[in-house]
Amino acid sequence: MKIKKAVIPAAGLGTRVLPISKTIPKEMIPIVDKPAIQYIVEEAVAAGITDILIITNRGKGSIEDHFDHCVELESNLEKKGKFETLKQLNDIVGLANIQYVRQKETGGLGHAVLCAKSFVGDEPFAVLYGDDVILGDDPVIGQLCRAYEEFGRSAVGIKQVSDEDVQKYSSMKTAHIKHNYYFIDDMIEKPKKEQIFSNYSILGRCVLNPNIFKVLETIPKGVGDELQLTDAMKVIANTEGITGVDFIGKRYDIGNKFGIMQANIDVGLRHPEISEDLKAYIKQIAKQL
Ligand code: UTP
Repeated sequence: MKIKKAVIPAAGLGTRVLPISKTIPKEMIPIVDKPAIQYIVEEAVAAGITDILIITNRGKGSIEDHFDHCVELESNLEKKGKFETLKQLNDIVGLANIQYVRQKETGGLGHAVLCAKSFVGDEPFAVLYGDDVILGDDPVIGQLCRAYEEFGRSAVGIKQVSDEDVQKYSSMKTAHIKHNYYFIDDMIEKPKKEQIFSNYSILGRCVLNPNIFKVLETIPKGVGDELQLTDAMKVIANTEGITGVDFIGKRYDIGNKFGIMQANIDVGLRHPEISEDLKAYIKQIAKQL
């Protein structure tokens, strides 16, 4: 079954990137000239997703504005004959059928995904974390959709991370299947050192079957007194198994100040309008480092 629906949780508080996230949603932080969440929507669309639900909350209205028409601006561009820019803006509006639902309390990633229950219905769906931008030629969520189709069970995007980071993220119990595919039958969120299964963590992408909602409705709150998506995925891993895909793509954590800078440098170095100037600037300042 082709996966057509995606959920983008974007209702977190973004405390790691304060003060900017006090008034600007971290998902709207720019990577050169586009907000982070636009790269994520574009990834989903490139993978064949047609319907997207963005989970927002108070103060995140700029996300909705970004994917909507701005008549005054558009007619101004038209009058000035700036048709290329106008087309760019119209293309954003036409990217996908995007809907929104508000998470009324910041109850954790699991709670955010549960807000998508009626949108998802009874079909498998993709989840793209709103602060994880992953760039590459082959959209990562498409790599996971293919794994879902091949193995007929939920799939998560995984990468090996450092000993320090695995304790901040999650740890997967993996058995190699073939190529970059792993079978996962257990996992833990933010493990203590002695609880680590492996250095494979889930990073920002998954394709889930709708059984996850029943689990999310029954499990207790986990780490940080939040409903953890990893805790629900653990139940699915224990009962049905999950495919881990060691994905191909470069990930930028936009919920983290260093991740924002890495994304801006890498995208800037490839951006047709500024790459030459940026290259020259980096070479110049590198001499003084
Ligand atoms: P994070 O845990 O990285 O987001 O969630 P956070 O809570 O904003 O992070 P801090 O405060 O800097 O530690 C990953 C994704 O899930 C969304 C976030 O917006 C982010 O895109 N999220 C998180 C929700 O939608 N709702 C929540 O209750 C928590």
